[in-house]
Amino acid sequence: MMDQKGKISLILIAIILHGTGSFSDDDGPLVLEYYKEKCPLLEEIVRYSVEVAVFKDPRMAASLLRLHFHDCFVMGCDASVLLDNFGGITSEKQAGPNLNSLRGFEVIDQIKYLLEEACPRTVSCADILALAARDAVASRGGPSWDVWLGRRDSLQASFSGANQFIPAPNSSLETLISHFKQQGLDVGDLVALSGSHTFGKARCLSFRQRVYDVNFKGQYELYDKYRKYTSFRRILQTICPRSGRNNDLSPLDFMTPARFDNHYYVNLLQGKGLLISDNVLMTQDHDGEILKQVWSYATDEKLFFASFANSMVKMGNINPITGNQGEIRKSCRFVNT
Ligand code: HEM
Ligand SMILES: *[C@@H]1O[C@H](CO)[C@@H](O)[C@H](O)[C@H]1NC(C)=O
Repeated sequence: MMDQKGKISLILIAIILHGTGSFSDDDGPLVLEYYKEKCPLLEEIVRYSVEVAVFKDPRMAASLLRLHFHDCFVMGCDASVLLDNFGGITSEKQAGPNLNSLRGFEVIDQIKYLLEEACPRTVSCADILALAARDAVASRGGPSWDVWLGRRDSLQASFSGANQFIPAPNSSLETLISHFKQQGLDVGDLVALSGSHTFGKARCLSFRQRVYDVNFKGQYELYDKYRKYTSFRRILQTICPRSGRNNDLSPLDFMTPARFDNHYYVNLLQGKGLLISDNVLMTQDHDGEILKQVWSYATDEKLFFASFANSMVKMGNINPITGNQGEIRKSCRFVNT
């Protein structure tokens, strides 16, 4: 039997151990001012470049955000997504979720070029992706957040990982949840990060099934009596015929297509998400928890922005390469020779 004193000291030890343990967990391996001395102009250069790119092509903001997502979900945020086919590397760019779809590589090249002038061999491509995603969101009216830095670049790509870990647009809610869980992200992160579909575009190929598949019709019958879902469906059918025109585009958020706002959630409440993966958040939510979250974001943009920023930081922390693992690439498209 343990006496009272023994119990208390055990509890104290547990608190101390747990305390130090969670200290290093929360801190993670990344650092806020990682490049403060090594590349003081970094954040200015990225923000300026993103602003110029988005000025030329407003959609680029969405494309840059998605690039960071597709990087982080495959072997962690290590710029593996940027590698081209070369010397034994099979590019992730050719994988199903990315092919004819992912864009923004030239913008990252341009930023890397400027950074190699300002501070050669210093800033990783993975950190550029994280900063560009943040500035892209802010450039279209979205929130901003601090980006912890110090990621290093991978020496390899994973074509099969890109096919496996990036969820398909016709995923069930269960599949979406498990894909996010695999990355250490929870249902709350899934709902907040799906809010990215408040801007940018999708190809007909990505939403055809949502418009024509009879299996998905039933899920929307609820909205038929308000004559909202059916007419929306008809509009989408004019953009996306039963076959062909695979690369024709529709905005993900038909209300405010180029702004980063909370309209995505208003659309969801009306059954007007563009992708099946958007609509299942509502139609397959059994305990009403997601509905509660969607409702609160649809009615409180500040709350959405705060949650989104929080989940973006979490996503940006997925498995970074640090220390003397990996490298700082000279060109984001190739590993150093
Ligand atoms: C929840 C699971 C998700 C699925 C199934 C999904 C799927 C898709 C699909 C199919 C497209 C259209 C691609 C095309 O047709 O070319 C798209 C676009 C986009 N996605 Fe997602 N996505 C998901 C989550 C996310 C997350 C977490 C983010 C960012 C953090 C994101 C950001 C974007 C953006 C910004 C676009 C528009 C890109 C552009 O216009 O270039 N998505 N997504
Ligand atoms: C999702 O789409 C893919 C490719 O078009 C198809 O093979 C698959 O059967 C679809 N899955 C569901 C659940 O509808």
